[in-house]
Amino acid sequence: MSRILITSAIPYINGIKHLGNLIGSQLPADLYARYQRARGNEVMFICATDEHGTPAELAAAKAGQPVAEYCAQMHEVQADIAKGFRLSFDFFGRSSSERNKKLTQHFAGKLAENGLIEEVAEKQVYSKADGRFLPDRYIEGTCPNCGYDKARGDQCENCTKQLDPTDLIEPRSAISGSTELEVRETKHLYLRQSRLRDKLDAWIDSKSDWPVLTTSIAKKWLHDGDGLRDRGITRDLDWGVPVKKGDEPWPGMEGKVFYVWFDAPIEYIGATAEWADANGLDDSAWQRWWRTDKGAQDVRYVQFMGKDNVPFHTLSFPATIMGSGEPWKLVDYIKSFNYLNYDGGQFSTSQGRGVFMDQALSILPADYWRWWLLSHAPESSDSEFTWENFQVSVNKDLADVLGNFVSRVTKFCRAKFGEHVPAGGTYGPAEHKLIAELKKRIRAYENFMESMEIRKAAQELRAIWVAGNEYLQSAAPWTVFKEDPDHAAAIIRFSLNLIRLYAVLSAPFIPDAAEKMLQALQTKNDSWPDNVEQALSVLPAGHNFSVPDVLFAKISDEQREEWQARFAGSRD
Ligand code: 2FM
Ligand code: ZN
Repeated sequence: MSRILITSAIPYINGIKHLGNLIGSQLPADLYARYQRARGNEVMFICATDEHGTPAELAAAKAGQPVAEYCAQMHEVQADIAKGFRLSFDFFGRSSSERNKKLTQHFAGKLAENGLIEEVAEKQVYSKADGRFLPDRYIEGTCPNCGYDKARGDQCENCTKQLDPTDLIEPRSAISGSTELEVRETKHLYLRQSRLRDKLDAWIDSKSDWPVLTTSIAKKWLHDGDGLRDRGITRDLDWGVPVKKGDEPWPGMEGKVFYVWFDAPIEYIGATAEWADANGLDDSAWQRWWRTDKGAQDVRYVQFMGKDNVPFHTLSFPATIMGSGEPWKLVDYIKSFNYLNYDGGQFSTSQGRGVFMDQALSILPADYWRWWLLSHAPESSDSEFTWENFQVSVNKDLADVLGNFVSRVTKFCRAKFGEHVPAGGTYGPAEHKLIAELKKRIRAYENFMESMEIRKAAQELRAIWVAGNEYLQSAAPWTVFKEDPDHAAAIIRFSLNLIRLYAVLSAPFIPDAAEKMLQALQTKNDSWPDNVEQALSVLPAGHNFSVPDVLFAKISDEQREEWQARFAGSRD
């Protein structure tokens, strides 16, 4: 049994996320977590809300709520929606937790001890109209790198370049839109990450198995000259982790907080500690996942994220971990994603464009979305959601192939043999041929799931469903029954066992349907088919079952058109 630590990038607290966010980290991380648990491994799957920084402050101001109250409320909303999508986090934490506060201050203290923090008097953009400094997202303008005109002060969403507010061309305040800005001096802490360049370079070089998307972004920023320049890790804001050196005050830094991107990844650790607290466990329970001197040397740590998050996870966060000089667990594998586009454009939170997670669940159950999103994950390039494509995928893969198989087999059995697995006959050449095909395909499926090649895994799973349909079609128990009911019984016994096998294999993708299938078969046996022959004899003759309700309803043209129209504009 292996131990696998899985983290999904933690979504900003500033509202409900769209389907592009979901497929960019949480959903694939969930797929992997479910698969690893099904294989009998010990999994710790962590996510949280990212509650500090300008996104939180701006959203709270827009909602007219105090930021702490806004965050508490929105955390619950996001947690509920995550449940709705069946995201199986072991813990969904909050970056504003006491645990994260302490850990963030601890890391800053260690970095300072190791000479990796510098106090810098720097120039920051100050807005006269707003009467305040404008860090990060409080300022917008044109990206000096790619010309995108809605680049934010911390990063250009378009080309992923990390920016400083003073880099922006034609800057304006994101609060008031004012362009009456001036540069004022203020003191901040800088992380001297450039000192770790060689170490980071060697570390990235040692990750030859990482996806090209991950390493190419990391390498680009490492060698880009200013990609790894020392960066400010504090801000002139009220909301955030107060700047302290461990438990000690930090003279000159009173009233300042750490930058959201400094404390956010530390929350992966923080949330694991929150999990231990919530379960009444002591520190050793979370430390065995995170401290290589306390058990984590045996852990495999996998992170999931969208491509815009890659620089922070390949450079800044590892710099924090390495720079601490303490034995914290570094990531072993980073699975990153391109963007999912929406019907000819981009999903956009700020513009309310696309389908948001709550809206998606209000029209169809989670499995429909999970299947489409995962089988179209933007792995090697950006991909696009269209309603036509969604309709085709749901109707063909889920309704015609999987749903129809389950329905035909169970209904035919009920009509001819009753609601129990029929006795009689034996498995013959047709069954053995399918077993041989399944053996190959299941091993291929396992390999794709292990290597997190999600689209390929989905294709293989679909091929496994198709193979069962083709078998049933050519075995034709409805015809055979007239001449040879025993033979028909063997075909149906085999097919009922196939349904259980499908439930087990499909559960990481479509957990609700898988659960319904097992419930209909009145079995709790969800053991992985290490041995395919045995797996297809789990349900013996005489075992009772019931015909399940329709697993997947087809999407009609009218529904598709209605949704297409409803989601054509912006959210509010
Ligand atoms: O891009 C985002 O949504 C960020 N909130 C991700 C943070 S991931 C991590 F570092 F915590
Ligand atoms: Zn850009």
